[in-house]
Amino acid sequence: MRLSVIGCGYLGAVHAAAMASIGHDVVGIDVDQRKIDTLSQGRAPFFEPGLQEILAEGIASGRLRFTTEMSAAGDATVHFVGVGTPQQKDGYAADLTYVNTAVDALLPFLSPGDVVAGKSTVPVGTAAELAPRVEATGATLVWNPEFLREGWAVLDTVDPDRLVVGVTPGEAGERAADILREVYHPAVAKGTPFIVTDRPTAELVKVAANAFLATKISFINAMAEIAEVTGADVTQLADAIGHDVRIGRRFLGAGIGFGGGCLPKDIRAFAARAEELGRGESVGFLREVDAINLRRRDRAVDLVVQALDGAVFEKRITVLGAAFKPHSDDIRDSPALDVAVRLHGLGATVTVTDPAAIDNARRMHPQLTYVTDRDEALTGADAVILVTEWDEYRRELDPGHASSLTRGRIVVDGRNGLDAAAWRAAGWTYYGMGRP
Ligand code: UGA
Repeated sequence: MRLSVIGCGYLGAVHAAAMASIGHDVVGIDVDQRKIDTLSQGRAPFFEPGLQEILAEGIASGRLRFTTEMSAAGDATVHFVGVGTPQQKDGYAADLTYVNTAVDALLPFLSPGDVVAGKSTVPVGTAAELAPRVEATGATLVWNPEFLREGWAVLDTVDPDRLVVGVTPGEAGERAADILREVYHPAVAKGTPFIVTDRPTAELVKVAANAFLATKISFINAMAEIAEVTGADVTQLADAIGHDVRIGRRFLGAGIGFGGGCLPKDIRAFAARAEELGRGESVGFLREVDAINLRRRDRAVDLVVQALDGAVFEKRITVLGAAFKPHSDDIRDSPALDVAVRLHGLGATVTVTDPAAIDNARRMHPQLTYVTDRDEALTGADAVILVTEWDEYRRELDPGHASSLTRGRIVVDGRNGLDAAAWRAAGWTYYGMGRP
């Protein structure tokens, strides 16, 4: 099938390449010439395992191309809109400028029978706002949210755990759903749940999923706060409640909390939308989820200060990690970098290392010192804090080896990822999050 993908950021670039990898003819369109140039050369503009390969293959096969010209969408029959919906500068709501601009720019190139599939995460009701403009061209608007996780984005796109398509009742909607079944044919053929629903439900499914995940993380971090004043161990608590399959152990990792380009802004946008709908109280708990999450960053900084007897000024602190999570170079709302910046603000001499995110981190926070080599970063440190649980730090860093490099023996485990017993046995004073 001939597809266009409008917006070649995280979502769009992966979607375009993944759709070409399953045999479609795809054009990716973006206003950013530099991004288009990079993608056209078959290079991934960000770190994402597997993306480079399918981009290069797609370009070489001739099935995938990238351009800044919206007119290129004219050849396609299905158009995915995957532009960003960032948090507004002066509020919590989502900024829909890019969605509106992209859809308006696409309108002249739509033909009757085309399908426009919104993939961006939007406030519920957005499709209803856009529909009259799209449907005046004879095209059909559906909402087809995306659930990809950074680090697993390619896999999540070609082999998702569910597909959701929101359509309007009636023939055009049914036909559009059938077209999307064809687009996602390999996943559909293997029996992936394909949920056809109405557009508001599809929009809500996405934000509800992210709100649930954020709530799960903040729940366990709230338990960490209680553990901290009672001498309990939140990791054992999570293991114990996680055995209940109704609860489940995943996303019960207590630590410095969630960040990234999705969870934080999505829960805020959801709360803001609920207020607009007169149902602010229904998701009022999301404000608490946000507050708990941000408090964990303070807690990690306090632990370092406490461990250094209240005197961090000019102490050398090595920060292991900058990305908002491992397997990513994304530093958007990264709790890791936030902790590093705060320690720097307290006068500490902060050295940050990360296997993938240093370039991005340096661009945003040039005041910090960055060292690519892990061991070099550890050399001479008075204290070490783990803030992104890359395997390089969590599994592969031997505490005995670390002691041979650092000056102090203080380790703060902001992700509860280290083997506390092994670090203690090697002579370190170990501090976890929500652990005695
Ligand atoms: C999230 C969702 O997981 C995806 O399903 C969704 O499609 C995506 O947002 C999106 O809206 O596009 P992502 O932002 O890639 O994906 O990251 P997650 O794996 O969800 O992690 C989010 C944050 O939570 C990270 O900072 C991570 O370190 C933190 N986290 C995760 C915890 O603090 N504890 C945990 O137990 C799990």
